[in-house]
Amino acid sequence: MSHPTVTTTAPWKQKFQQHLEKAGGPQGSGAEFMLATVNAKGLPKVRTCIFRGFWGTLPENEHNKLPKNPQIYESDCPTFTTDCRMSKTYDIFATGKGKGNLEQSRSGTGGGGPIEAIYWIKETNTQWRISGKCWIIAADDIEGGEEAQNSGTVTVKAEVGRYMRTKGDHAEKDKEWSWKLETENYFENLSPMMRGTFKNPPPGQPIDEGKDEKAGEDLGQKAGHLSDEMLARKNFRVCVITPEQVEAVDLTDPAKATRQIWTLAEEAGGPGGRQPADPVGEWNHIETWP
Ligand SMILES: Cc1cc2nc3c(=O)[nH]c(=O)nc-3n(C[C@H](O)[C@H](O)[C@H](O)COP(=O)(O)O)c2cc1C
Repeated sequence: MSHPTVTTTAPWKQKFQQHLEKAGGPQGSGAEFMLATVNAKGLPKVRTCIFRGFWGTLPENEHNKLPKNPQIYESDCPTFTTDCRMSKTYDIFATGKGKGNLEQSRSGTGGGGPIEAIYWIKETNTQWRISGKCWIIAADDIEGGEEAQNSGTVTVKAEVGRYMRTKGDHAEKDKEWSWKLETENYFENLSPMMRGTFKNPPPGQPIDEGKDEKAGEDLGQKAGHLSDEMLARKNFRVCVITPEQVEAVDLTDPAKATRQIWTLAEEAGGPGGRQPADPVGEWNHIETWP
């Protein structure tokens, strides 16, 4: 892995994480957020998703019996899981630099299209808005699987890798950390019922077109480990958001409510944002009227 570009914890992360915990955290009831994508026709699409932790620091979970990666990385990248047959996956492929087609979006790792995510945390009266890109990871091609690594895999590892900081004195231990194992652990962190939804008949396909019973498609199934579940493995994806701009507006006191905006600096691969700004690590901070 190349050296991570982002070397310090983002100045917004600690507060954002605390707020997410108050909203149900990555386990338990789960913090919901709205994810916006742009589809291949240039139209906006938005839907509810569930926050599943920050990439590299997957939370412990009672359902999870798998071996874990060594705890050597952390990142500022919120994650969620999805099914590659859902429209959002195609949107994220189609609007990425590689302009992936529908078939590619269903075949493996890639993406990189622009997204915006909104987390309305009622408990703290704060709206968090994250703009950036989204990267989609499949267990089967993210590393040394049956297929050779495609360009999507190489790009995703480089782009997400830039956000992965090593913790403490672990800089030399990259090789022990497996992207595939991390992806399998995301699946394992879901309840057996939720895992089973990745064996549902194709989301969005009209019911009168039937389902592929031979392949094992059906509603209301349970699933075990991702490595044993061929159908679920074909469909299951971990999605990693790489933030480029983050906004927080705390509406607790209307007389004091300002909007905080942090923009990733150009030197760190971000858009830079309005100048003058206060540099905080790799991020430029400004305060605006709400
Ligand atoms: C509370 C709630 C949480 C959801 N969480 C997710 C999620 O984490 N990932 C996901 O792909 N869909 C999730 N969904 C379903 C999506 O909102 C959406 O209906 C589905 O993914 C199809 O969307 P698409 O066709 O735009 O991709 C959730 C829905 C609800 C109501």
